[in-house]
Amino acid sequence: MASGSKGKDNISAIAKHVDAEGYEMPWVEKYRPVLLDDIVGNTDTVERLKVIAEDGNVPHIIISGMPGIGKTTSIHCLAHALLGESYKEGVLELNASDERGIDVVRNKIKSFAQRKVTLPPGRHKIIILDEADSMTAGAQQALRRTMEIYSNTTRFALACNMSNKIIEPIQSRCAILRYSKLKDAEVLKRLKELCEMEDVKHNDAGLSALIFTAEGDMRQAINNLQSTHSGFGFVSQDNVFKICDQPHPIVVRHMIKACQKGEIDDALARINELWDQGYSAVDIVTTVFRVTKGMEELPEVLKLDYIREIGWTHMRILEGVGTLVQLGAMVARLCRVTMPPSSLRL
Ligand SMILES: Nc1ncnc2c1ncn2[C@@H]1O[C@H](COP(=O)(O)OP(=O)(O)OP(=O)(O)O)[C@@H](O)[C@H]1O
Ligand SMILES: [Mg+2]
Repeated sequence: MASGSKGKDNISAIAKHVDAEGYEMPWVEKYRPVLLDDIVGNTDTVERLKVIAEDGNVPHIIISGMPGIGKTTSIHCLAHALLGESYKEGVLELNASDERGIDVVRNKIKSFAQRKVTLPPGRHKIIILDEADSMTAGAQQALRRTMEIYSNTTRFALACNMSNKIIEPIQSRCAILRYSKLKDAEVLKRLKELCEMEDVKHNDAGLSALIFTAEGDMRQAINNLQSTHSGFGFVSQDNVFKICDQPHPIVVRHMIKACQKGEIDDALARINELWDQGYSAVDIVTTVFRVTKGMEELPEVLKLDYIREIGWTHMRILEGVGTLVQLGAMVARLCRVTMPPSSLRL
């Protein structure tokens, strides 16, 4: 069913899955892609999955990467593309919410692997182990032989955040696909599509703020879009930052500009403003880093110096000294970078 149809209508087709009661579903679920074609970003890897889906001979795979970038979704799309109508009988999904100790591997997974089901010709049963990095090493060990013995009828698809938590022998049996964080442009495109489908009133600054706060995590971007929309009815920069509760990058930007001009009083006032709003030193310093990194108007050399200073401050804060004085010292050092040496002489 899924494998054949293509085209832009797919997304709107998914949109019709709204629950009958009329309650608002979380948009992340409502717009969870069902076709590999609808997955945004990581094009090379998704192309590889499409080839696998057409070919039918799926290897054991591990998809690893950050949260919210489409790993679980991709595996389900792949299983749909491979099995179509037989998805229900042909797929066993176990995630971190299921018991996945050695017993389950011995009993549930083994008995599913042994079970005979009718599938389209040339297709295999698929066992999806989502969040596989939370499986104990013992349970993973128990999988080793099972994966081999039943590999003519059953293939494994694992998703995890950290592939190093998967034991080496399992890694060596699988093709490892790494998903990277989604690019800003990719998240933006998707958000724009959702805005159109859900008729969300927004401006460009609002969408940029969503992208800034999500840091390449599509799930977070969509969730924040929905929260801002239902909370304020309009997606603007200020509303997004009220929902996301992060130090406002505009304030941080002003602070850095003040440092560049050597206006320490102004810069300190901005830091005080954020501190008084209750943000922690880590929140502030990470936002300062991200804003500095993205400021195109800063000369390259200056940016390097700034990032080095911010890095030192971040380290000291993580070591335990997350005080206003620490942030003030950072501001002082940033101001000092651009001050002419003559003005530093007493
Ligand atoms: N690449 C993507 N294209 C389109 N939508 C996406 C993409 N990535 C995530 N989403 C949206 O975010 C939701 C969550 O994605 P998914 O469950 O695949 O994340 P994940 O990578 O498995 O994260 P986790 O590591 O937390 O399990 C999806 O329902 C979908 O709406
Ligand atoms: Mg997942």
